[in-house]
Amino acid sequence: MLQPSSPQALAIHGLSVGMLWLSVFIFGLVTALVFFAIWRSRKLSKDHLPERVHGKTKLEVLWVVVPLLIVLTLFVFTVRTMHAIDPAADPGKPDIIVTGHQWWWAIEYPEKGFLTANELHIPVGKRMLLLLDSADVIHSFWVPALNRKMDLVPGHPNYLYLQADKAGVYPGVCAEFCGLQHAGMRITVVAEPEADYLAWQEKLSQPVAAPLEGPAAEGFRLYTERTCITCHSSSAGPDLKQLALRRTLGSGVMENNRENLIQWLMDPHRFKPGSLMPNLGLTYAEAAALSDYLRGAP
Ligand code: CUA
Repeated sequence: MLQPSSPQALAIHGLSVGMLWLSVFIFGLVTALVFFAIWRSRKLSKDHLPERVHGKTKLEVLWVVVPLLIVLTLFVFTVRTMHAIDPAADPGKPDIIVTGHQWWWAIEYPEKGFLTANELHIPVGKRMLLLLDSADVIHSFWVPALNRKMDLVPGHPNYLYLQADKAGVYPGVCAEFCGLQHAGMRITVVAEPEADYLAWQEKLSQPVAAPLEGPAAEGFRLYTERTCITCHSSSAGPDLKQLALRRTLGSGVMENNRENLIQWLMDPHRFKPGSLMPNLGLTYAEAAALSDYLRGAP
């Protein structure tokens, strides 16, 4: 919000800064008047009683009309900003569908027909239309540098524009309390040049061949036998295709590297208590094999 990196965030930033300066002005004015009153009354003699004021129509009208005008001005600017940055009521086909889950984000690119989770990519400078929904409770999608908060309400899809002026990695959070791991429900937006974005899409659209030998093959066997596949190939759990490309694990609770993934697989609740991901009682060697499979090691 303080470093706006999209036209939408810039509009919100302008509104916030305008409101802040108006508040500073009013605060300064009131403080100055209080000190003026103190200074003036100290100059008067001790037995002087201040004049009682009542029934002054002009004064009463003034203190009703002036705040009303201030509030109306703020209202008009707020509505104008919302109108400028929000999609219309029926904005058409979304580029990306984001579904909130306790406590992770399902991300779908309907045109390319693939799913991913917790990290979404957008091309720099292009306005993407997001459809936001929830599979369970109310969540809220907020990437402060890029957009306003928008709730994910079960059964009531909301739309949001997502755009970034510069290439970069923009961190975001769930901004609506949604249970134990609300704070562990982070999202990453990666804005990259069109070519990189298309290359990323291409990688995620390709089917992944089952590895035939080595630790990854053992990992694949465990992946199917230990029923990981049941949740992770349905909407019950995050899609894991090309997991190695993601920056974080567990929806932002830890950096994505081989050792962290092994530790996560051995005991997810150590890092994210309450997560639906069960502790499968894997040995280190089993978790390492699974990690090699999921990270696409040769
Ligand atoms: Cu999801 Cu808070």
